[in-house]
Amino acid sequence: MAFDKELFDDICREFTVDGEALHTIAADFRYDLKQGLKDPDLSSLRMLKSYVGLPTGEEKGEYLALDFGGTNVRVLRIRLDGHGKFEVLKKVAKPLRVEGIYDYVGEGSTAEQMFDFIAELVDEAIDGDHTKKYLLGHTFSFPSEQTNLYDAKLIIWTKEFATAGVEGKVVNDLLKEALHRQGIDNVEPTAVINDTVAVLLAAAYKQPDTYIGSIYATGHNTCYLEPFADKAERPMILNLESGGFMKLVPNRFDVAFDEHSEKPGEQRLEKMVSGRYMGELFGMALAELLGEKGKAYGFTSIDMSNIVLDESPDKAEVQKIVAGKTGHKLDTADCELVRDLVSKIIVRSARLVTASYVGILWQLDGQIKSKQQHIAIDGSVYEKMPLAKENIMRALSELLGEDAAHVDTVLENGGSGLGAAIAAAMSQQQ
Ligand code: GLC
Repeated sequence: MAFDKELFDDICREFTVDGEALHTIAADFRYDLKQGLKDPDLSSLRMLKSYVGLPTGEEKGEYLALDFGGTNVRVLRIRLDGHGKFEVLKKVAKPLRVEGIYDYVGEGSTAEQMFDFIAELVDEAIDGDHTKKYLLGHTFSFPSEQTNLYDAKLIIWTKEFATAGVEGKVVNDLLKEALHRQGIDNVEPTAVINDTVAVLLAAAYKQPDTYIGSIYATGHNTCYLEPFADKAERPMILNLESGGFMKLVPNRFDVAFDEHSEKPGEQRLEKMVSGRYMGELFGMALAELLGEKGKAYGFTSIDMSNIVLDESPDKAEVQKIVAGKTGHKLDTADCELVRDLVSKIIVRSARLVTASYVGILWQLDGQIKSKQQHIAIDGSVYEKMPLAKENIMRALSELLGEDAAHVDTVLENGGSGLGAAIAAAMSQQQ
């Protein structure tokens, strides 16, 4: 089979963000940020208050950290030693869904079942000890409305989660009740934070001059330290829920995918950039090229990584991956085109994400010019997806010009766990 070249070029165009569009998106993001600071109803960014600022780096003590928000739920026992140092004493993790065995994220499961499952994991992390007191920091990676560091009410599920009975509830209450049902009354949840906030806390614990924290993984979102949040006396981290940024022009694949998603009309930026969705978009585009429009092949972002990594002349790996998912054996020329298409989708993702970072940097303008600063990022797409990092750097230069020299991105691996422990420690300082 040889792909229709005109159709191929058209699809690639759909996934291209040129320099002009990049600038417009960064400017629109900044505009939404400014509007959101006045009133979140005027913005597509939720701008959620976290009720926490940056750590001093001197937080100390042993804490439990619950990291909930992706495919795996993790509980860690962490000792903070101050001076930006820490040690993970124990780590337990389990997937929230095992095909054909259990599923705590589908709409058939309840809040009680899900939090009981999490409480069992907490029990494992403390080796069944129901006497020693622990404070628990909870990284809950969904849009939540907070009134203080403890109370976080889930506004709406994202990332295709659908467990019944959690939306609108205070998640730490659900956790507390589940812990109580299992006799774990020595563990006290004291703080709940978004994973972006956790990444920022973790990075800032180790390194000053970090004001932006981001997740670039299954989902995508960013937070930053707002010096004047709500005229508060102290700066506060705001979770932008930037995955919900709407001022973007979705292409026909974005539109078609959104229509069949769990929450149509929500999370436009996230659905265009994050790991949960990129494979689906690629599959939809490939289906058109294969004359099977509308078919979903189940490509993942890991397939996309492997396709880009195949630099061999015969593209055997690309051929194998595509045949495995679609049943079509492509010739080498078409495999090359498949690889180009995958690259386009990744590059678009990296450019859109960068435009959102720059929107924030422009808002914090004075800080960029005066000193070096870091954007802390965690997540499999940033860490492992070929082309992602280099295209972030390229787009930063394109947008910031010489000022790009003052900004770098740093990988904050495992920030969700460490950040939760830091938040638990900080809950005692307030
Ligand atoms: C989704 C969630 C957001 C989270 C992000 C990364 O966008 O709504 O809260 O930070 O995924 O996990």
